[in-house]
Amino acid sequence: MRFSPLFSLLFSSASLASQLYAASYDGKVTELGLSKSGQGYHLNVLSQTDNCGPSPSWLMPDGENGMIYCLDEGIDSPNGTLTSFSTLNGTLAKIDQLKTIAGPVASAFYSAAHAPERQFLVIAHYSGSAVTSYSVNRTTGTFNLSQTFTFAIPKPGPVPDRQDAPHPHGVVVDPTGHFVLVPDLGADLVRIFRINERTGKLSEQRPLVTPPGSGPRHGVFWLPQAQETNRAQAQGSKFYLVSELDNMVSGYDVTYAQNGTMLFSQFYQGSTYGGAAAPSGSKAAEIAIAVRLACFLLLPLRIKQKQSKAKANPCPGSLQPSNDRLLVSNRGDDTFGAGNDSIAVFSIPGSDATSTCSRNVSFTGLYPSHGSFPRHFEFSPDGTMVAIALQNSHSVAVVAWERNGGFGSLLAQAELGGEVTAVVWGVDA
Ligand SMILES: *[C@@H]1O[C@H](CO)[C@@H](O)[C@H](O)[C@H]1NC(C)=O
Ligand SMILES: *[C@@H]1O[C@H](CO)[C@@H](O)[C@H](O)[C@H]1NC(C)=O
Ligand SMILES: *[C@@H]1O[C@H](CO)[C@@H](O)[C@H](O)[C@H]1NC(C)=O
Ligand SMILES: *[C@@H]1O[C@H](CO)[C@@H](O)[C@H](O)[C@H]1NC(C)=O
Ligand SMILES: *[C@@H]1O[C@H](CO)[C@@H](O)[C@H](O)[C@H]1NC(C)=O
Ligand SMILES: *[C@@H]1O[C@H](CO)[C@@H](O)[C@H](O)[C@H]1NC(C)=O
Ligand SMILES: *[C@@H]1O[C@H](CO)[C@@H](O)[C@H](O)[C@H]1NC(C)=O
Repeated sequence: MRFSPLFSLLFSSASLASQLYAASYDGKVTELGLSKSGQGYHLNVLSQTDNCGPSPSWLMPDGENGMIYCLDEGIDSPNGTLTSFSTLNGTLAKIDQLKTIAGPVASAFYSAAHAPERQFLVIAHYSGSAVTSYSVNRTTGTFNLSQTFTFAIPKPGPVPDRQDAPHPHGVVVDPTGHFVLVPDLGADLVRIFRINERTGKLSEQRPLVTPPGSGPRHGVFWLPQAQETNRAQAQGSKFYLVSELDNMVSGYDVTYAQNGTMLFSQFYQGSTYGGAAAPSGSKAAEIAIAVRLACFLLLPLRIKQKQSKAKANPCPGSLQPSNDRLLVSNRGDDTFGAGNDSIAVFSIPGSDATSTCSRNVSFTGLYPSHGSFPRHFEFSPDGTMVAIALQNSHSVAVVAWERNGGFGSLLAQAELGGEVTAVVWGVDA
């Protein structure tokens, strides 16, 4: 981490700067500034706090309100914590904090459809075998416990050291905003909760059952671009799930039944190595879909695309649509050399104009994550970069995302003081 006076000067002029926030197991939440000076990008520490707790595991930014929420997994302690911070004054100022059930590892916001002022957040607790929800005032950053669901299984799953008990690992809200889905690594289920339209309370429905020993970890919804303005219907949406224990990606067509349940029909299943067996010891982690690029970016990048390798593009001659790639990180595979794990990229089917050539999920390649254990990654809001949390390298990498639907070069990397568990982009208030 270099912090030259020149950099400070450039940064304070605030051109081409964006913020990132990283959580690490050394008890820190770090605000990083990404800036471009001359030919290169720089990633520098702007501020740091240890107020999240001893083992920060997850970050959830609320850019609109200048807040960020942090989960402390509370490793080796009977409880975790949920903390909110204001990001508005150039530091991370603690607003509210509550003790939680053990082992919080992921969260998401949701609201009641017919009472949008009722805002909540929902948390998956890995070691606590639980899901909790909190009412939250997103303006003030304050919250109260609302509901607690704890789960049990009659006997350990096929991978007993990881499936001794239910282990909720991820949280994802569906495109209609009526359901919360929680992949449970220990129970081989995706737990489904319906959100009450008036009260915002969750009620558990029949889960989506996954193969025994698969260990579902995280999921993501895909929505056709044309449905963006009609989220209530969300016709043609798909759910993609990554399972950690068998290193598989599954795709499901999603429909909504009259009786208020979600229906899933699996149309794809393949390994996170494009069909090849996963190297021994590798553990799939994060899943995401490439975000749409802003339209003004299309023109200058058209030239760049011409120079890039046509091989990576399954739709030759067409300008790549965004919302067209699925990314899954692999931990501990050393695909690009010792301590250099991979991120798998797939093209995905959809009704967006130019992607008609892909009717199924198809593997397009493995790319270097630039370190060890890419536990989490996130696209920049403009879709041109991906920030990667490299747990065992204790670092954050920022890598270019190209219009041809693949990774470009490493732009910047910052070393932090501990295992990095999550990295998110700040959104200007
Ligand atoms: C930020 O700074 C302003 C002005 O000094 C102050 O009024 C406000 O309380 C601060 N907010 C936080 C969250 O520290
Ligand atoms: C803290 O952990 C204990 C033991 O698991 C649990 O009984 C208690 O409810 C937790 N506290 C909170 C606030 O969740
Ligand atoms: C959030 O808190 C503020 C300040 O107390 C209050 O004015 C506002 O009504 C609250 N918002 C909601 C949705 O409760
Ligand atoms: C939390 O509870 C307090 C006390 O009942 C209440 O005043 C506050 O509005 C609640 N906040 C939220 C966000 O639910
Ligand atoms: C809801 O409807 C679907 C489709 O008709 C059916 O498969 C499912 O069993 C129903 N679920 C409940 C809880 O009634
Ligand atoms: C999509 O791929 C999966 C896995 O390779 C295969 O089982 C399925 O039949 C394919 N579906 C279509 C519509 O080609
Ligand atoms: C990872 O592999 C890529 C591609 O071979 C290489 O450019 C990069 O320098 C490697 N990084 C590390 C940290 O080994």
